[in-house]
Amino acid sequence: MPLYKTIILNPSTQIFVWKITESFQELLDSVVLNDSNIIRLNGMKSEMHQRAFLSVRKLFQEAGYTDFDLYYDEFGKPHLHDGKHISITHSHQFSAIILSDEVVGIDIELQREKIIRIADKFADSEFLFLEKENNEEYIRKLTVIWGAKEAIFKIRNEKGISFKDHIKVNTFEMNDDQTTTELHFDDIIRDFKVCFEEFESNDDKGLKQNFTLVYAFE
Ligand SMILES: CC(C)(COP(=O)(O)OP(=O)(O)OC[C@H]1O[C@@H](n2cnc3c(N)ncnc32)[C@H](O)[C@@H]1OP(=O)(O)O)[C@@H](O)C(=O)NCCC(=O)NCCS
Repeated sequence: MPLYKTIILNPSTQIFVWKITESFQELLDSVVLNDSNIIRLNGMKSEMHQRAFLSVRKLFQEAGYTDFDLYYDEFGKPHLHDGKHISITHSHQFSAIILSDEVVGIDIELQREKIIRIADKFADSEFLFLEKENNEEYIRKLTVIWGAKEAIFKIRNEKGISFKDHIKVNTFEMNDDQTTTELHFDDIIRDFKVCFEEFESNDDKGLKQNFTLVYAFE
């Protein structure tokens, strides 16, 4: 499937989501790559990772860019030569980019029961509003919290940020579609607005999967 979803948040901010159903070769034949990304692609161990990487280049095309408009800094954060802000994510059969005049971060996560077991590695103050009794909602909220912290990490791109100790997601309900967060790091508090939405999709075997898309603005 080509483009799965486009979200136009305002004149300067767009999100493009791709559902990766094309083969590696189909994707490779339809994009251009700069030299360092050809080397990177060839070094990737899994074909799924390669397809995700290439599908992001399809998203660049949708947005009017090519791989030659992008570079990565020493931490792996992507930047556009024209000064617009970009953030990239991929998860299983989905990839997404967000483009904005504002500083932004994005993350897609598959909702999985497994997140319950690792919750105490990335959540802390959030346990004050999380209710564990409703298992399904608990997983959905934990996935938003995880995605929010990933998105904020991608914005700040700073060494030493701990999801558990430094990023605090404030209380929210699933139908709010947004929340706020604080980053307490290096004696400074920074506030972020976080938006989220969920979507459902079938995997290769026809099994239903739920994904959470989270994006953050400083
Ligand atoms: C870098 C990191 C944010 C990537 O997130 P992820 O969920 O593994 O993967 P995603 O697919 O969502 O994002 C990958 C994309 O993030 C971008 N990215 C990588 N490093 C980045 C950085 N330092 N800053 C901003 N964006 C970055 C890249 O565009 C990358 O895709 P690409 O290389 O194919 O272009 C994550 O691996 C990480 O290091 N997190 C912080 C570590 C941490 O504290 N972890 C958990 C504690 S419990």
